[in-house]
Amino acid sequence: MPSIAVVGLQWGDEGKGKVAAYLARGANLAVRYNGGPNAGHTIMYSGKTFRMHLVPAGGLVCGTAAIGAGVYVDLKTLSEELKESREVRPDLRLYLSPRAQVITEIARRAEEFLESMRGERAIGTTRRGIGPTAVERFGRVGLRVADLLEPDSLQEKLRDIVTFWNLKGVDTRALADGLSELFSSIEVEVTEVNRLIRERLTSGGTVIFEGAQGTMLDVFYGTYPYVTSSITTSAGVSIGCGIPSRWIDVIVGVAKSYTTRVGAGPFPTEIHGDIADRIRSAGVEYGATTGRPRRIGWLDIAQLKFAADLNGTDEIFLTRVDTLSGLDRLKVCVGYEGYEDGEFPVTVSELSRVRPVYAELEGWPPIDETKRGEILREGYGALPSQARRYLDFVEENLGTHVKYVGVGPRTEDVVER
Ligand code: IMP
Repeated sequence: MPSIAVVGLQWGDEGKGKVAAYLARGANLAVRYNGGPNAGHTIMYSGKTFRMHLVPAGGLVCGTAAIGAGVYVDLKTLSEELKESREVRPDLRLYLSPRAQVITEIARRAEEFLESMRGERAIGTTRRGIGPTAVERFGRVGLRVADLLEPDSLQEKLRDIVTFWNLKGVDTRALADGLSELFSSIEVEVTEVNRLIRERLTSGGTVIFEGAQGTMLDVFYGTYPYVTSSITTSAGVSIGCGIPSRWIDVIVGVAKSYTTRVGAGPFPTEIHGDIADRIRSAGVEYGATTGRPRRIGWLDIAQLKFAADLNGTDEIFLTRVDTLSGLDRLKVCVGYEGYEDGEFPVTVSELSRVRPVYAELEGWPPIDETKRGEILREGYGALPSQARRYLDFVEENLGTHVKYVGVGPRTEDVVER
């Protein structure tokens, strides 16, 4: 499997970091293709927990990582994360696309303004400047990594961005100096990532494409406007890395065994009360970037079908079967009343009115450390029978093979089916 794309099928936080790290064993290169420091990939690797925002989680495992043109880069986050990553992986090589977009203080200020302007309709962004940086890109005033290599014209470019947003009181000289200084302290190799990928793949290497956020946060197909400003579907791989889409051999869609969402916007299978609290606390469901409690809901196959179709998903990696354990009964949404298979509302008002149709299934006994050990030793058959029925049910209703099952937080806590 020389090239594998990892995409989120829900509203982000599906466990893509762990999945990318798992699949990166034996890979030659791990590439982030979208998103920015709004993402938070938590992985447990080498006995340590990492919250990766920009450096591909798979890079910690395979030792070589790249950040593609589709990523919004915050230099401070990148610098800190690289230092931390190199504590466990001193030989980590990181390549950075000169075409990747740089987030500045200006974008964060613009975002404060835009979010407060929306009042109650605020998106509930991570406040990392993603939206305004995307606007700068398409407004053709944005700052790219390549601009950091031309320090003499940096201040002029920053002035254009300030004018674009009509902001006052930004010291562009200090900002330019700060960016240049920070950039020169970061040990990355600026290179055309598309060429690097081509070279790796044509010489028989394996490349993992690591996505951020999830399909329902996609700026084209997600629950607009409650989305992020990236292409979060598998289409984002070719755009964000500069490679033809036919170069992707396998698309692995990642979904949790239930659903979560951070930030505002409709969420048809959302639940409140004891069960939601229990899942939230069992799964430590708090945003890895902002610390906000995640909203919790049942698995939504109507939503997943839409997402799996959009991505061309070949295989499903269902995470957190352990977190969902210990419930007597649980529900799965198998469709929305009046909607066809794979059909999904276009507007948030329509989505907020859908009536989910639920199937009720038996829960399974707790998967604790002992049980997890047994499952990892003996394989898929050692999962509780009710959990296996749940996985069969998901596979049948979704029509996509559930190949991998996550049974714990560590990178290696996975059974294949
Ligand atoms: P932004 O990406 O900061 O502009 O936020 C837009 C929306 O996407 C908000 O609802 C965020 O909570 C959500 N979001 C952005 N990144 C992530 C992520 O990595 N996981 C989950 N939600 C995210």
